[in-house]
Amino acid sequence: MHRRDFLIWLSITVSGFIALTTNLLNKILRYISGPNLTKEQEAKLVEEKIQNLDRSVHLEKLREERLLKDKILICGLKDLKKKEGLPFVDFNLKPALAFLGKDNNPVLISSVCTHLGCTVQSKLNKGRLLCPCHITYFELDTGKALEGPAKLPLPMVPFIVEENKIYIVKHA
Ligand code: FES
Repeated sequence: MHRRDFLIWLSITVSGFIALTTNLLNKILRYISGPNLTKEQEAKLVEEKIQNLDRSVHLEKLREERLLKDKILICGLKDLKKKEGLPFVDFNLKPALAFLGKDNNPVLISSVCTHLGCTVQSKLNKGRLLCPCHITYFELDTGKALEGPAKLPLPMVPFIVEENKIYIVKHA
């Protein structure tokens, strides 16, 4: 190889190497410093973090309450409705609904669908509970699966009534 050719080859190789290294360094720096955000975007991220922390604190308070107590107040008897369930969290920290059922007796029932775990709607659909995910209907007073892919009933939530107030209890 002539000296001139060698110099050309060398300069191409070196400039290619420099371009590659610079690109790689830029990527590393961007990864370390994070994306360039405006103040508003950064504030929104902080706000979301605060909301997530609030949710975690709320969940931990519910957990603590369930560890320390044997019964938890849900609502007054007068707060129950026939066509729309009052949402609450059961002793296992799962969503549930409280209704006024047949003969005006309270019905406290899990709202976790026994098919794949979606939450059933709080408003009754033609007198039945509906899981909208894959359309299963459940009977309100028994939790029995009536129609759709779920086969197991929705479990009832144990409760007691004291002085016209409804409490969920650890053991029925
Ligand atoms: S999860 Fe409820 S029907 Fe599938």
